[in-house]
Amino acid sequence: YPAPGRCTIMSDLDTVVIKGGATLSGQVATGGAKNAALPLLFATLLADGRYRFRNVPDLRDIDSTALLLEHLGIAVERDGETLTVHAAECEHPEAPYDIVRKMRASILCLGPLLARYGRARVSLPGGCAIGSRPINLHIEALEQMGAEIDIENGYVVARAGHLHGARLVFENATVGGTENVMLAATLARGTTVIENAAKEPEIIDLADCLVKMGARIDGAGSSVITIEGVDQLRSCDHHVIPDRIEAGTLLIAGAITGGDVRVNHCIPGHIDALTQRMVECGFRIDTGSDWVRVLPCDGWRSHDISTAPYPGFPTDLQAQYMALMTLADGTSVITERIFENRFMHVQELVRMGANITPKTQVAIVRGQPGVLNGAQVMATDLRASASLVLAGLAARGETTVSRIYHLDRGYERLEAKLERLGAHIERRPSEPQAA
Ligand code: EPZ
Repeated sequence: YPAPGRCTIMSDLDTVVIKGGATLSGQVATGGAKNAALPLLFATLLADGRYRFRNVPDLRDIDSTALLLEHLGIAVERDGETLTVHAAECEHPEAPYDIVRKMRASILCLGPLLARYGRARVSLPGGCAIGSRPINLHIEALEQMGAEIDIENGYVVARAGHLHGARLVFENATVGGTENVMLAATLARGTTVIENAAKEPEIIDLADCLVKMGARIDGAGSSVITIEGVDQLRSCDHHVIPDRIEAGTLLIAGAITGGDVRVNHCIPGHIDALTQRMVECGFRIDTGSDWVRVLPCDGWRSHDISTAPYPGFPTDLQAQYMALMTLADGTSVITERIFENRFMHVQELVRMGANITPKTQVAIVRGQPGVLNGAQVMATDLRASASLVLAGLAARGETTVSRIYHLDRGYERLEAKLERLGAHIERRPSEPQAA
């Protein structure tokens, strides 16, 4: 792994070049959800056997997870959108820094390793561009379930005779914290109740898969999740839910170019918070059972947003929505309540001509139709890179987005999907480095 099937050899120095102005139209399909696939893959640490996961996107973060699982003795094979996982006993429940640093969601191996083996040594994930990304809530919850956890030389060193159930109350609805505890609680002795649990669709998908493995879970998708520990679990097959963030990103790509784009293979209800805002901005949105369509619009109003845990406006769509607001007729106030530093895209959008005033948690966007000009910009994190691509689609002239390895972490060949919708966009491999 990565499987021989990977056709795009991505280099860290590739760029995406966009000639703005094309009006997108047509249909495009959403892939599987990155943020569902990652915890599902870590669930294979709980039970040996063969798993088959369908609709798994071909992303760098999936590669990183496969690398870590292989380090832990689990084989992963890709055949198109299907991953086959051969899980076996793990002799060394350790997740080293050089793998964890590439993807902080690796911390999701802590719960299953502790539950299965009673010990784990996992590198601290460290922060990232959007924030310090602490894991104190994960640690405190696992300690309440009987784990003894120390931080030694940048590693989480955890031991537990046998985890036991507990009643846990999260001070904020942490997605990863909820997932780590769910994974751990499936094999703990007794009942675990998580209060103020995250309610994201990816939590429900993980619970559905764990129940197929023999776990006993109620309440996933609500703020109170109850898990009855069992002695043993078994492998299973599972189809990953569609990626709601990719679906929202593709819909905004249609909207920002005034185009007509239908996003297929998605779950419309998962992006209600976005589509409701877009309707309030003047867009016409049609929905079907598994598709959402934005229709042509030659001008849209501004509308404020405040990011919030699901079902509120997703923080992972904040940067993309901000790109749309730079061209709106009016001022919008964008409040980021989930992460402390998720405005890294602001300065790059300003370099393209946008009028944005960032403050601590708030960005004031003074929108103006036609204000964006192409420029050389740099991606800093996954969703910021998507925001810059969207801005480039609508900007006058050419935009070059560098460091698009950020994009490849969470979007499968986004440039190819946009090109099929009529965008003038291409990936430029990096120049061979002079010897
Ligand atoms: C998940 O991250 C997603 N990642 C993120 O998507 C997403 O932005 C985030 O949830 C919020 O929806 C994956 O699912 C792999 P949190 P996670 O724990 O679990 C604080 C993307 O672009 N917190 O819900 O790390 C934390 O600092 C990525 O696909 C603590 O204080 O998010 C943040 O302010 C980016 N202590 C807030 O809670 C903790 O122990 C929400 O974090 C844990 C979290």
